[in-house]
Amino acid sequence: MEAQTLTKTAAQTGFEIRPLSALMGAEIIGLDLSRPLDDATRDAVHDAFLQYQVIVFRDQKLTKQQQVDFTAQFGTLERHTLRNLGTNDIPLVHVVTNMDDDGKLLGRVKSEKWHTDKSFRPEPSMATILHAVILPPAGGDTVFANMYAAYEALPEPAKAELSDVKVMHSWELSRENIGRVMSEQEKRDAPDNVHPLVRTHPETGRKALFMGMHASHLDGMPMAEGRARIEKLEDHATQEQFVFRHNWREGDVLMWDNRCLLHHADGNFDTTKYPRVLHRTCLRGTPTK
Ligand code: OGA
Ligand code: MN
Repeated sequence: MEAQTLTKTAAQTGFEIRPLSALMGAEIIGLDLSRPLDDATRDAVHDAFLQYQVIVFRDQKLTKQQQVDFTAQFGTLERHTLRNLGTNDIPLVHVVTNMDDDGKLLGRVKSEKWHTDKSFRPEPSMATILHAVILPPAGGDTVFANMYAAYEALPEPAKAELSDVKVMHSWELSRENIGRVMSEQEKRDAPDNVHPLVRTHPETGRKALFMGMHASHLDGMPMAEGRARIEKLEDHATQEQFVFRHNWREGDVLMWDNRCLLHHADGNFDTTKYPRVLHRTCLRGTPTK
């Protein structure tokens, strides 16, 4: 059956944008990201990124350097946290993997809790770009929740009540919650930061909830109460109607907007048997408002 009724062609550039769901997500067909994009193409891709929040470029094969060059066309690349630099030849590319340094399978994937990338930074990540390198035969999805939609669905009194609330984001606490104690050097490298709970997207002007696993508690409110409120809100925001699931295909390059989404990895495959490796670049965002 032809499910292409929504298909739209970006006129000036010849590539095709196919929405993947009514909520968000679109695939982009017919671009070769290993070569520089001309300005019109770059702008059209950027528009699609803002409109669909998650875009997937099919059939790519990028070296790490080509991924860095592709990313740089959309802003300033962001360095990764100390542990995620690894022993990489190109430290701007973080290797997301379910193996240890010796290639032994860990039996789990990382980043399985809802989050938005580097929300503990004063300028949290604008976008993350992941390129599939090794995929399991099935599963290992990346799952997204739309924080525009989750915000918009709140009753008006809740919106009003949340409008001035500030959230403390802490990498240290977030690591503690997955059972890891950070070194002093790591703590100095990633101090806590406060952000509004309801964020105005700097490019679209739309409001979105901004929280996730690095969100520790509410500023000026007792810890336990603030945590409970964040957890309740997260339960609301990650309901099925706000969620889009990306099923990876070989050659995929995924690019998403961290300013209006939460995401997590899904270990829905045999993590003791199959490797899953992706190359990751991030773009720095702006201070939150
Ligand atoms: C990330 C991330 C999810 C995944 O790279 O920031 O959360 O599916 N990855 O691996
Ligand atoms: Mn992430």
